[in-house]
Amino acid sequence: MNLTLKIWRQKDASSKGQMIDYKVTEISGSMSFLEMMDVLNEQLVNAGEQPVAFDHDCREGICGMCSMYINGEAHGPDRGVTTCQLHMRMFKDGDTITIEPWRAASFPVIKDLVVDRTAFDRIQHAGGYISVNTSGNTQDANSIPISKHAADEAMDAATCIGCGACVATCKNSSAMLFVGAKVSQYALLPQGQVEAADRVRNMVAQMDLEGFGNCTNTGACEVECPKGISLDNIARMNRELMKANI
Ligand code: SF4
Ligand code: FES
Repeated sequence: MNLTLKIWRQKDASSKGQMIDYKVTEISGSMSFLEMMDVLNEQLVNAGEQPVAFDHDCREGICGMCSMYINGEAHGPDRGVTTCQLHMRMFKDGDTITIEPWRAASFPVIKDLVVDRTAFDRIQHAGGYISVNTSGNTQDANSIPISKHAADEAMDAATCIGCGACVATCKNSSAMLFVGAKVSQYALLPQGQVEAADRVRNMVAQMDLEGFGNCTNTGACEVECPKGISLDNIARMNRELMKANI
């Protein structure tokens, strides 16, 4: 495939950015989107130009680093996948692909497609820890009964990889799907009950402090989330917060 790429280039956080056009040729449909970006960068380096900066780490849908807005969609046109899992077979020969960084004031651009997502780290830190007895008399996990339903829902919430696609997709730049998932993964389990009230209060307070918007139930976050995190987690977070405040 031969493709035209329109990519957001921005030297650093304080510089003005702009879209620049590039051509890539002989791209195979079996390549991942990031492999296609590697081809472009090799081309740029060989021509003595600056490669396009983008985040990546695991390249298998686990770390949540590969945040790119592709043709107006977080992680591109496929469903349930991250950018690193997106295959070039989703595109056609001759296509023009627009590639931008996450768009949200709380995720400022550092360089090109790399944004600062440390706001998510600060929200998680605000949530604190869970009490686990590590004195040597640790309770055997099987002695704490947990219903299959609760265990499944907690596990589903825990699959959130903190990529930020929900924020980038939301018209309000809301982080409620992410925070809802992080609150839910503990709220559903007995081990998470001890600090439950402080956890939800502190995480929501930090989320507001970071400047993320509110949820208006549009549901775009759920559609674009590569891990299929459900809106139910936002409802659960709101219930947990109400319970904590009462
Ligand atoms: S809720 Fe989904 S889109 Fe949001 S950070 Fe977690 S995995 Fe990414
Ligand atoms: S590089 Fe880790 S999820 Fe894409």
